Amino acid sequence: MEIKRVGVVGCGLMGSGITEVCARSGYDVLTTDIKQEFLDKGIGNIWTSLERGVKKGRLTEQEKDAIAGRIRGTLNMEDFSDRDLVIEAAIENMAEKKKIFAALDKICPPNAILASNTSCLSVLDMAIVTKRPDKVLGLHFFNPVPVMQLVEIVKTLVTSEEVISIGEAFCKSLGKQPVHCKDTPGFLANRLGMAYLVYVFRCYEQGIASKEDIDKAMRLGFNHPMGPLELSDFIGLDTIYYIMVSMYEELHDPLFAPPVILKKMVTAGQLGRKTGKGFYEYK
Ligand code: 3HC
Repeated sequence: MEIKRVGVVGCGLMGSGITEVCARSGYDVLTTDIKQEFLDKGIGNIWTSLERGVKKGRLTEQEKDAIAGRIRGTLNMEDFSDRDLVIEAAIENMAEKKKIFAALDKICPPNAILASNTSCLSVLDMAIVTKRPDKVLGLHFFNPVPVMQLVEIVKTLVTSEEVISIGEAFCKSLGKQPVHCKDTPGFLANRLGMAYLVYVFRCYEQGIASKEDIDKAMRLGFNHPMGPLELSDFIGLDTIYYIMVSMYEELHDPLFAPPVILKKMVTAGQLGRKTGKGFYEYK
């Protein structure tokens, strides 16, 4: 099966990034969101990123226009009736995701592949609300999508090998480097990454070092591009909290029990860069 037409559900940070990389790689992309303002914002971010590409000499005006010409937004998911692959990148809420997968199953052609960009939820739970669970997989991208090389390919108990192979070829066609993992909470990267961040928060809570020194230690000592607290602000503390809670609930592993400091900051609306304050302040 050849993938030509891609649909992306959700045009937020991840959905707009996925839309951009698909269009850059020659796919016809249709993206949807629940409100026009969300679509406008996401597509606006893509235009800004393409303009930056032109300014930096990585894209010509013609290439930029061709990429932009491959992207369309719609508020009507019924328009996804001709899509070969749909990637869901909506809110991390299982009830909402199930509604989306059930709707896509009715709208999309019977052979279309349905993927979720969820960072931690069970892909199988989304698959079983469709009549094509063998054609449902996880394709988990990383933020910022145009920059980050990794995509996790998540195989549920019932995803077919053929669909996994198509998913892998698709990720490679985007210039990404896939890894394969089982449909377990946090998959691979967040299982490892959250174990790291949860321990960082505990060290910070215990006052082992200042936030600046914690970040400096990992930037300079381990050559990470961002220290863990800067990274947490970048990801969003609400997102991290949500991932930790869902991993803790599923795995019952005390390692992932969210530290009190994280819960308090989320309650106070200190979510990181997106709210202007997290571990650090942002203008
Ligand atoms: N979109 C597109 N391009 C972007 C971008 C964005 N949002 N942010 C940065 N870039 C590009 C810049 O244009 C620049 O490109 P160039 O070198 O070709 O000109 C390049 O990335 C480097 O950007 P900057 O010079 O502005 O800044 P940095 O060198 O500090 O890099 C960074 C920024 C790429 C974000 C880097 O700090 C980094 O890699 N941080 C770690 C990110 C990370 O770990 N992400 C994973 C989060 S976890 C996740 O997503 C999983 C989820 O489930 C929680």
